[in-house]
Amino acid sequence: MEFRLLSGDIINEWESYHKTLSSAIKSDSSLLNQINSYILENRGKQIRPILGIVSAKACGETNHLTICSAVVSEMIHTATLLHDDVADSAQLRRGAPTVHTLYNPAASILTGDFWLAKALSLIVEQKDSTILGLFTGTVEDLSEGELFQMQKAGSFDTTREDYYSIIYRKTASLFVATVKSCVYSTGAGHKTLDIMEEYARNLGIAFQIRDDIFDYMPDLNTGKSAGNDIRESKITLPLIAAMEIAGVKEREKIISLLKEKGDTPENVKEIIFAFVKKYSGIALAQATLTEHTKKAEEAISSLKESSYKRDLIEFTKFVGNRFI
Ligand code: FPP
Ligand code: MG
Repeated sequence: MEFRLLSGDIINEWESYHKTLSSAIKSDSSLLNQINSYILENRGKQIRPILGIVSAKACGETNHLTICSAVVSEMIHTATLLHDDVADSAQLRRGAPTVHTLYNPAASILTGDFWLAKALSLIVEQKDSTILGLFTGTVEDLSEGELFQMQKAGSFDTTREDYYSIIYRKTASLFVATVKSCVYSTGAGHKTLDIMEEYARNLGIAFQIRDDIFDYMPDLNTGKSAGNDIRESKITLPLIAAMEIAGVKEREKIISLLKEKGDTPENVKEIIFAFVKKYSGIALAQATLTEHTKKAEEAISSLKESSYKRDLIEFTKFVGNRFI
């Protein structure tokens, strides 16, 4: 979902968002400014801040706290990617070389630390402990989620339940904090906040399942290389769904292949891709994704009708778009 495709007007908020973001990342370090310019040149669709602002407008009137919450969300997201690309040894992000390949891993981690620290400073300046609590809770979720994912990649025993716990913490949690803080900033009550939490949680879960499906689709032009998850021994939904259907013997064979990747990782990737295809793992994951986009849409059915509500529904369609 891109800004230009929105039917609701968020032009003024979007201008304030950019101004607030630029001033929040100002620094005296020329190396840091160089890296920051590279990050901004290669920025993504900024789905989280757009979602936050649209959610706020669907529920009430926006204000400075709404904009700060949207900015903080994008800053935390940027920090996590700078860390994640080092953790995953990723070469490409949004079709461009990652910061750690252009500079070095320490530069990427430290720039991530800077974005995270500046994000937290921006919330602290707002003197709102609810919003501070929402975002610090998410930073905890993100770190724990990534470590749990690492633990499971080492034990090769990720269950569907583990997978949900990982994707809630690494992705949906930030969607929830963004939407809730932006909506809370408008003065919305508990009932509206609960509705929007349910919407954001399901949308975030669907969003990560979509990303995990992309990793099994080498022909899609996603700006990232496919097969990274297998390379990192991450067992995600397409493989979990295929393993749930396959017999014990075949399942054990796949797990031992993953364990003993050794010096033939490309062959292993091909065998696992074929296994997922044989048991329709992508279609099964897509069906689960659709269940979540439907739940997200249902969650907001009682919101008053507006162009912003229509955009929130469009978000669910965008994430739920079928690829096979
Ligand atoms: C991308 O997942 C990674 C995340 C959504 C979360 C990363 C979180 C951390 C590294 C820990 C916390 C860091 C901070 C700064 C709080 P992915 O690797 O599946 O997706 P990708 O294909 O886009 O890399
Ligand atoms: Mg990654």
